[in-house]
Amino acid sequence: MSPGAFSVTAPGRVNLIGEHTDYNDGFVLPMAIERSVVMEVRPAADRRIVLRSTLVEGPVDIDLTQPIQAGRQDWGRYVAGVVAGYQRLGWQIPGFTATLSATLPEGAGLGSSAALEVAVATAIEKLCHRSLSLVDKALLCQRAEHEFAGVPCGIMDQFAVTLCQEGRALLLDCRSRAIRQVDLTSPQIAILVVHSGVKHALVDGEYAQRRKQCVSACRMLGVRSLREVSLGDLNPNALPNLEFRRARHVITENARVQAFVAALEARDWPAAGVAMCASHASLRDDYEVSCPELDLLVELASHIPGIHGCRLTGGGFGGCVVALVDAATAETARAELVLRYRQASGLGQVSFLTRAAPGVSVTL
Ligand code: GLA
Repeated sequence: MSPGAFSVTAPGRVNLIGEHTDYNDGFVLPMAIERSVVMEVRPAADRRIVLRSTLVEGPVDIDLTQPIQAGRQDWGRYVAGVVAGYQRLGWQIPGFTATLSATLPEGAGLGSSAALEVAVATAIEKLCHRSLSLVDKALLCQRAEHEFAGVPCGIMDQFAVTLCQEGRALLLDCRSRAIRQVDLTSPQIAILVVHSGVKHALVDGEYAQRRKQCVSACRMLGVRSLREVSLGDLNPNALPNLEFRRARHVITENARVQAFVAALEARDWPAAGVAMCASHASLRDDYEVSCPELDLLVELASHIPGIHGCRLTGGGFGGCVVALVDAATAETARAELVLRYRQASGLGQVSFLTRAAPGVSVTL
């Protein structure tokens, strides 16, 4: 490596349970996965950033002597958003060149944009010899996604990439931002991820719409967030049916996160699986963010021995399912699910078993 060079590894994430709860002040339980973005960074003498990717065309070239504007359409928008975030704080960012490679599939709903943002943020902090708190770094990356990619995401993905630990899932209370690391090192279980092979074209618009529907439910209920409402308080006559079902999903999903964590801690894998299946049904019926391919995967998984539970993970409308599986038969279960899915849908897709990986790291 040339002098001053280093590499940053930022993992993707899979959310075990707690979906569409982060922007409703609720609970989420993501873990980092053994698929990542790797950035090889070299300091440069001039004041520009040049990033090349082994996967996407065209270098991203950012002139650090000019103010950075939103509006790019390429993957450089994530980079520009993070650079702008540090510039706003008054940091003098030195020039650098970097090469990106990834084992994390892009556009699969596994947090690839958060991984890229957090990798860039970590590189900038290393080059500047100073750092924000991990929480402030994650929030800066979330803001980059809002302002430069136009995606009104919650805090889950950037927090997961930044704060996850090896062998642990991250229980995050999105209201207080309190964190608990939940042990996932039992040799009895493994985590399976299977891509459905589809991505809904309207995904961003649908996501923003769900957020608005939750805000509208809160307004009608006279509360600041759905976290303040219990299932007992939720009167079907107080809300139109659509807002009622959106609110019911969020309230019951928060309870399922707690039930899932309790089941993990008791090593009661079937009970954890029940919470995952109920989460999927609620996302499908009440929150309406599933699609036929995800429903098919979950249905097929329910008949395969050794799979305790399976659900869509991430924003929905395509992307991946996550399953909790018996470690002893994990590979057989993975192969069987992928085979049955291919036979039923014609779609052959990325699938892998993973342990809980560490969050972002720097190697000299
Ligand atoms: C996307 C967003 C997250 C979260 C999930 C749904 O992944 O980036 O903030 O809202 O959808 O749980």
